[in-house]
Amino acid sequence: MDKSMYAIEVEKLTKIYGKGETAVTAIADATLHVKPGELVAILGPSGSGKTTLLTSIGLINEPTHGKVVIDGAMVADEGWTPGLDLKRLRREKLGFIFQHHNLIPFLSAMENVMIALEINHLSRSEAKSRATELLTALNIGHRLNSYPTALSGGEAQRVAIARALANKPKVILADEPTAALDTDNGKNVMDLLKKLAVENHSAILVVTHDHRMVEGFDRIFQVSDGRISGEQTIKYKQPMYAV
Ligand SMILES: Nc1ncnc2c1ncn2[C@@H]1O[C@H](COP(=O)(O)OP(=O)(O)OP(=O)(O)O)[C@@H](O)[C@H]1O
Ligand SMILES: [Mg+2]
Repeated sequence: MDKSMYAIEVEKLTKIYGKGETAVTAIADATLHVKPGELVAILGPSGSGKTTLLTSIGLINEPTHGKVVIDGAMVADEGWTPGLDLKRLRREKLGFIFQHHNLIPFLSAMENVMIALEINHLSRSEAKSRATELLTALNIGHRLNSYPTALSGGEAQRVAIARALANKPKVILADEPTAALDTDNGKNVMDLLKKLAVENHSAILVVTHDHRMVEGFDRIFQVSDGRISGEQTIKYKQPMYAV
């Protein structure tokens, strides 16, 4: 396959925190390619480097070594590509679901989602209807006007998920998106991600601890001690690329 057909290309990515004696190599030599429409899981124990891998791909954490290409744009090659507008790339190409939701406290659930849409130039009424539609799909349509402090952990996480998905990004990076959810809502979130992979042709990389949540994924990688140690190909499902 032509390399440029990947939505996410990671080549020999290394992330070292700190320097000298206290340096921690959180990710070492990771190589990973994800096509548009593919749903890929990263499994691994606590401290193995999963969040670091995601934030290094997601224009949040500067990679120490190696290459990262997002939707055809070389964003890092031995450090950030000089002259990049990281904020803009993040806004236009990526949807990031964090391990701990980071909603804006003085905006309601609906406004937290609308703001992502309005930044990308949707009108207020379009933003309102898309935010309502997404929040309803995530079973939180009854909490549209609630503020983050009045939401449960799981509800707040679903609002954060709606916000990350709002602009139908080409690349979705999700760090333990179901950790704060019960099994049913966890399954709903994973189903929504699968649907997006197909309908929007988005490449989706999901970090999780939970083996039960990766049913229907195209590929699963294991991370241990900062290294991607193995890929498991899922044999029981049909390819889910949209035609
Ligand atoms: N900002 C930081 N500075 C220094 N070390 C860090 C930093 N962030 C993470 N680390 C270290 O890097 C390693 C990988 O951490 P990371 O958060 O990527 O793991 P994780 O797999 O996401 O763990 P968890 O499942 O607990 O979320 C750990 O040893 C951690 O202590
Ligand atoms: Mg983590």
